[in-house]
Amino acid sequence: ILVDAKNEFANEYISKAIKANALYEGVYPMSAALSRPLIAKWAVNIAIKNDAQAIAHGCTGKGNDQVRFDVTINTLYPKIKILAPVREWNMSREEEIEYAKSRNIPLELDTDSIYSVDENVWGRSSECGPLEYPEKEPPKDLYGWITYPEDAPDKSETISLKFKKGIPVELNNEKIELYEIISKLNEIAGKHGVGIIDHMEDRIIGLKSREIYEAPAATVIMTAHKDLEKFVCTINENLFKPIIDNKWTELAYSGLWLDPLMTSLESFINKINEKVEGEVILKIYKGSVRVIGRSSKNALYNLKLATYDKGQTFNQNAAEGFIELYGLQTKMANNLQ
Ligand code: ARG
Repeated sequence: ILVDAKNEFANEYISKAIKANALYEGVYPMSAALSRPLIAKWAVNIAIKNDAQAIAHGCTGKGNDQVRFDVTINTLYPKIKILAPVREWNMSREEEIEYAKSRNIPLELDTDSIYSVDENVWGRSSECGPLEYPEKEPPKDLYGWITYPEDAPDKSETISLKFKKGIPVELNNEKIELYEIISKLNEIAGKHGVGIIDHMEDRIIGLKSREIYEAPAATVIMTAHKDLEKFVCTINENLFKPIIDNKWTELAYSGLWLDPLMTSLESFINKINEKVEGEVILKIYKGSVRVIGRSSKNALYNLKLATYDKGQTFNQNAAEGFIELYGLQTKMANNLQ
């Protein structure tokens, strides 16, 4: 079951985020946000199978997860009751842990940890404790996946990622499942200190919170995807797509996975991604990732047009006419005519 859920998460949820270049507020790859509708769906399935009266969760009344779970569960199975004791009884984190322990509810976490950690293959997020002071650098002991950039290897590493229809299908020329590509990249890029994100985040309910994310694979894949997409799209597609991507990201973050607008936006996003095929080469080194090369049979780059060397075919004289028309209104406005 878990293997299925892992592949389902990668192929049905993360893959959509990749195609939408989904980084909430420009930085957060939405590791937690993307997993919630899947968890909610599984909870509903299990509840139906067991003829359960209610679904309970441990979300606080301050966060995003309560919204994501409740909205999805209510939409999929309106008649089920939702119990949220932490929210309803206004419990603190300590009280919550005590409550769970006293009732033998298994907690897959280090209860002595001062941090609240949430992780899945797309990223690890930490909040609470010293992180609640945004002016202070996060303590080094926080990091669970990533080697601190200063301690990362002195030698860089080069990665090749091949994409098909906007989705990574090969890592370093090895054809493996998306879930495996992400797992492997977390290791490789994490070792090089790539993917630490220090974010002052605007939560759905209007609260700002400081979150530290570790998302090595997401950082590498998003960088590569954005680059390749730009390489094969027209200027108009490239300047327009972020508007749709942003809306998709906002809805996904806000737990509105089942809003029909998501599917409509995805039609556009999928259409664009049909041609996002090819290879991106990236270099990772002490916390940074940068694209150092890309190739695609769908590239709209033409060496003969672009080159400044001999043998170029672009008609430079045509530019003069273009500029004359292009600047017409600016000229008029400035001459106050
Ligand atoms: N703020 C992030 C989100 O809403 C991550 C929340 C994960 N929870 C945690 N305890 N770290 O998507």
